[in-house]
Amino acid sequence: PTIFVITPTYARLVQKAELTRFSHTLLHVPQLHWVVVEDSPKPTQLVSYFLASSGLSYTQLHILTPKDHKLQKGDPHWLKPRGAEQRNEGLRWLRENAAAADGGIGLDSDDAVVFFADDDNTYSLQLFEEMRYTKMVSVWPVGLVGAMKFERPVVENGKVVGFHTSWRPNRPFPIDMAGFAVSLRLVLANPEACFDGNADIGFLESSFLEKLVTMEELEPKADMCTKVLVWHTRTEKPKMKGEDALIKQGLGSDPNIEV
Ligand code: UGA
Ligand code: MN
Repeated sequence: PTIFVITPTYARLVQKAELTRFSHTLLHVPQLHWVVVEDSPKPTQLVSYFLASSGLSYTQLHILTPKDHKLQKGDPHWLKPRGAEQRNEGLRWLRENAAAADGGIGLDSDDAVVFFADDDNTYSLQLFEEMRYTKMVSVWPVGLVGAMKFERPVVENGKVVGFHTSWRPNRPFPIDMAGFAVSLRLVLANPEACFDGNADIGFLESSFLEKLVTMEELEPKADMCTKVLVWHTRTEKPKMKGEDALIKQGLGSDPNIEV
């Protein structure tokens, strides 16, 4: 089965580095189509050129997050959901195109799987083989998330019976975005299922998943959720003190060199 990976991404100093690192993971994964959704009013040159030379099968989309949904300067990073509109745009594209026999991408979309992958996490290759045979919604642990070593679904007799998490454990699905994949068939069968950009903090994943499954229906992967195969890594914002000082002297780095 084909894996559709939907990735929201936005312009910042580390964007090309993140996309480079992630694309080099994806290059090792067979039968994969990367749906990259830029948080921008139009496609950017950086991402367009990057994807064209990536060697991956991809679709480039864009949708700007409305200003009132976007973090403002000084807001803590968790105040507003990030990437919601972009993931919904990816879902819209899938519903419109992937239903076609080969999705117009030369890949079989029968039994296909949809995974929402942020551009900054760390993904093991094994994760993609775990999710590839998803019937409805598959789940697995996520490392370094929720102020824990890992969060994970708790499995008994092959069924998910609860969640190991420290923060708001009563959420319907206390699972990070990186901790589940959904079958394309289920996405197409539930055309109204999407991410609620107005959801309370921590309820973004639940807003989508509760339209699709119950806890009992979740399919535990990664050895009954005992293996960590994805890490919620976050990249440090680069310091620009030296750059700013040089700019003041008219000696800033050449703006024609893409970073
Ligand atoms: C955590 C979760 O892992 C995310 O999946 C979830 O969307 C987010 O919280 C949330 O609560 O909304 P975190 O590391 O804090 O993730 O978020 P980021 O990695 O900064 O952003 C998630 C994705 O959205 C990334 O792919 C990023 O490139 C994209 N993004 C971020 C945008 O498209 N626009 C933005 O303004 C910010
Ligand atoms: Mn992140």
